[in-house]
Amino acid sequence: MTRNARTHMMVLPGDGIGPEVIRQAERVLEWFATHRGLDVELQHGDFGVGAYYRSGRILQDELLADILAADLVLFGAMGGGADHRAIPQEIRLREGLPGVRKSMQVYANIRPVKPFRTLAAASPIRAEVTEGVDMLVIRELIGGIYFGEPRGIETLPDGTRRGVNTHVYTTPEIQRIGRVAFDLARSRRRHVTSVDKANVMVAGALWRSEIDALQAQHYPDIALDHMYVDNCAMQIVRAPRQFDVLVTDNLFGDILSDCASTISGSLGMLPSASLSDPGPDRRRKGLYEPAHGSAPDIAGQDKANPLAAILSVAMALEMGCERPDDARLLERAVEAALGHKRTADIAEPGVEVVSTTGMGDAVLGELDRLRDAGV
Ligand code: IPM
Ligand code: MG
Repeated sequence: MTRNARTHMMVLPGDGIGPEVIRQAERVLEWFATHRGLDVELQHGDFGVGAYYRSGRILQDELLADILAADLVLFGAMGGGADHRAIPQEIRLREGLPGVRKSMQVYANIRPVKPFRTLAAASPIRAEVTEGVDMLVIRELIGGIYFGEPRGIETLPDGTRRGVNTHVYTTPEIQRIGRVAFDLARSRRRHVTSVDKANVMVAGALWRSEIDALQAQHYPDIALDHMYVDNCAMQIVRAPRQFDVLVTDNLFGDILSDCASTISGSLGMLPSASLSDPGPDRRRKGLYEPAHGSAPDIAGQDKANPLAAILSVAMALEMGCERPDDARLLERAVEAALGHKRTADIAEPGVEVVSTTGMGDAVLGELDRLRDAGV
């Protein structure tokens, strides 16, 4: 897509705090439409556990068709509550978020971890450890143990049960996510850390050798090292500055990205983009979503942090709309807003605690201020 082309965006607020945080993300999009000429057409879809109880389906077939036709998708959160667990797991996997990711073929999940300086004291990790961290967690998103066959629960002759999941990767699956990581590293500090459990898992040993082969053949200019996932979890909290681009499988990426979010102060700060391969029109399909879940305990209370959703809009502006200047402007507005307003999850003495809406107001106020200052 070229800059200034109309972007058709599907908005899926979902469940729990999803609708609240997505509302603030939409206000930000409206600001860019009004003040910066962003040409975006929004379409809303009813998706998630709420939709299941309203219509009998988490995801209607027509909605999936619209999702696949959209240029990009902005998604809030899904599931979480007791009513979620009442839906058979197979349906949740097929029609829920993992199924949408799979249908869209968005195999490359990108979660940037770059803490705002103003938030250093909100992190449970000491400021001297988190200072200067700038890493990308690249998670393979539509393979591995999330989707591997066989899987299921069977009852054995003695009445006990057996549950099975399969961790499986092929050469093309490993190489395409590896390429995303190496390509991104080229525009950064040229360092990739590939994370696996090759000492125990055979699919992990394959992962390691395929990443090695890819680097040797196509990316000799990128420094590559390998780390076992248990050590990696420790290194992320002990010495996170050592990471530039971290690439790993679906399950390890799920776990390590939550772990790395503590560096940013809160899971409520971590955005994500999930991209497909470029299509015939050279565009990558993109699913943009906060990395946090639906937080049913605080849903509907106007308390949740909308910044992960708002920063997902920044990623959409950059990667989906080719508007990096707008993305930087939005990040600056978020950083400035954090200087005087915080949601409860990142509260600090001396800084006013505001609601979800209040945080949205603060970001919009800073965008106005930056515009008036001619930025
Ligand atoms: C994430 C979430 C999802 C995942 C859940 C909600 C299916 O934890 O995006 O990290 O496991 O991928
Ligand atoms: Mg997760």
